Amino acid sequence: MHCLFWLLSVWILCLFGPNSQAQLIRVPMQFQASFMASRRQHRAGRSSLLAKYNVVGGQEVTTQNGGATETLDNRLNLEYAGHISIGTPGQPFHMLFDTGSANLWVPSAECSAKNLACQHHHRYNASASSSYVPDGRRFAMAYGTGSLSGRLAQDTVSIGQLVVRNQTFGMAMHEPGSTFVDTNFAGIVGLGFRAIAEQKIKPLFESMCDQSLVDECIFSFYLKRNGSERMGGELLFGGVDKSKFSGSLTYVPLTLPGYWQFPLDGVELGGTIISQNRQAIADTGTSLLAAPPREYLIINSLLGGLPTSNNEYLLNCSEIDKLPEIVFVIGGQRFGLQPRDYVMRAANDDGSTICLSAFTLMEADFWILGDVFIGRYYTAFDVAHRRIGFAPAA
Ligand SMILES: *[C@@H]1O[C@H](CO)[C@@H](O)[C@H](O)[C@H]1NC(C)=O
Ligand SMILES: *[C@@H]1O[C@H](CO)[C@@H](O)[C@H](O)[C@H]1NC(C)=O
Ligand SMILES: *[C@@H]1O[C@H](CO)[C@@H](O)[C@H](O)[C@H]1NC(C)=O
Ligand SMILES: *[C@@H]1O[C@H](CO)[C@@H](O)[C@H](O)[C@H]1NC(C)=O
Repeated sequence: MHCLFWLLSVWILCLFGPNSQAQLIRVPMQFQASFMASRRQHRAGRSSLLAKYNVVGGQEVTTQNGGATETLDNRLNLEYAGHISIGTPGQPFHMLFDTGSANLWVPSAECSAKNLACQHHHRYNASASSSYVPDGRRFAMAYGTGSLSGRLAQDTVSIGQLVVRNQTFGMAMHEPGSTFVDTNFAGIVGLGFRAIAEQKIKPLFESMCDQSLVDECIFSFYLKRNGSERMGGELLFGGVDKSKFSGSLTYVPLTLPGYWQFPLDGVELGGTIISQNRQAIADTGTSLLAAPPREYLIINSLLGGLPTSNNEYLLNCSEIDKLPEIVFVIGGQRFGLQPRDYVMRAANDDGSTICLSAFTLMEADFWILGDVFIGRYYTAFDVAHRRIGFAPAA
């Protein structure tokens, strides 16, 4: 972007400047055009979210510890997934890009034949890569349904034309239970900060920045959608794409670089302030909006939701248009969500369509803003300036 702009005026500087290799890398994100989650998947998304943030049985452990405990369930197409390749020659992987964790891992060719999650996906074969460097250390990550474990490795990781050298990542030999069997991705690219990375391994984007592979140490997410339906999108490394949002980005400083955690001034529903001075975490690895207990109850009651035994709130599908806008106030600016954004249509067990509130329970005092929010608002993850920016997605 910089170079393109400079080319018009001081192109020599650009061509021979220190950053002449730097570029913008676009990673197309895939979604099914007319995807509708099943109710089971919706539930799985919720339970995995709680485990991810270590919130079990009403007890918040912490959001700021170094141990990245996380989980994923059968969330199928609810995630941002795209391609990377690892090794020389490159071995391709379909990966989940997750701002709510900070490690990169893929299944290993050495995983056991009994491990379905591993067998169902492409596996990294270290012996087939001339740039592989053994690390020797073991690695493990706790998930809701068990522990993901294996060994660490170092190799070249490519995303588009962007080539990151000497990246340390996990080769998973054991993947827990059924967690990863049905996922449409093989592994995860954690886009959180090193502070929450297992063994404090340098995250991929930090390597990109250190190796001057991008103009600016920033990445941004754009999710193309139609209401709550995801249709595709783009993860951009190295800048923001002004054609993908309107107005300007509202930036707020991060509370601390670990998760993408920032102050949330308030939340309003129909003119009533229902939440004030909380913290929020932007998490591309979840589809939902998780609210602290008090806000969760207030919002869903005001929406006229019918509580179920699974901590879900059913909404009347024929009354959705009458529901109010819900406004998140961030950095003094208002970011509204319409019912079409926050009402999730799901297929019931009998095949009928039900409507569920996207506001799920977080037994903690912070909010998690997942795809429901990030899809509506283009999000810039500014690593260099330790800040996050939002603007209405185009
Ligand atoms: C890994 O690659 C090596 C070298 O190409 C090959 O001999 C071996 O069979 C591969 N292993 C697996 C499990 O695919
Ligand atoms: C990668 O590691 C090799 C061997 O240690 C080193 O020579 C090279 O400079 C490193 N490359 C980068 C980009 O860090
Ligand atoms: C968006 O959804 C509406 C209602 O479901 C539908 O009528 C419309 O065709 C969709 N638009 C696109 C571009 O798919
Ligand atoms: C949903 O709303 C429609 C239209 O307002 C109403 O006729 C219907 O009884 C409602 N359904 C339930 C289950 O409340």
